[in-house]
Amino acid sequence: MPKVKQINHVAVVVDNMDKALSFWRDALGMELHELRDVPAEKSQVAFLPLPGSEVELVQPTTDDSGIAKYLAKRGPGMHHICLEVDDIEEMMSQLKSRGVRLINEEPRIAADGKKYAFIHPESTSGVLVELYQI
Ligand code: CO
Repeated sequence: MPKVKQINHVAVVVDNMDKALSFWRDALGMELHELRDVPAEKSQVAFLPLPGSEVELVQPTTDDSGIAKYLAKRGPGMHHICLEVDDIEEMMSQLKSRGVRLINEEPRIAADGKKYAFIHPESTSGVLVELYQI
């Protein structure tokens, strides 16, 4: 059986990165590890690591991405929770066999080689869930 190992990150969609950092970095005092443009996701992403996990702040850089539409519709807030699994293919086939609605039918590969896929909120009590295999 494939296993969920830990929460890898929690992602928050923001409409103003400076304003978001004034809370997460400056007021809470979390370390900003990296602020990076991710052209493939049409986003700017801030990474604030904690032991074993991290908070990611995501700001869309165009109006036409999925996350930009999400922000326009719902405003800033929780975007997704990412669970690290030991075998993403096995986990996805287990979920499919149980009728869970996946957004990505196959794992996608990030620039750094991580495999990831999203599960539709319809199947998760309303939370967008990302799976990661490192
Ligand atoms: Co994520």
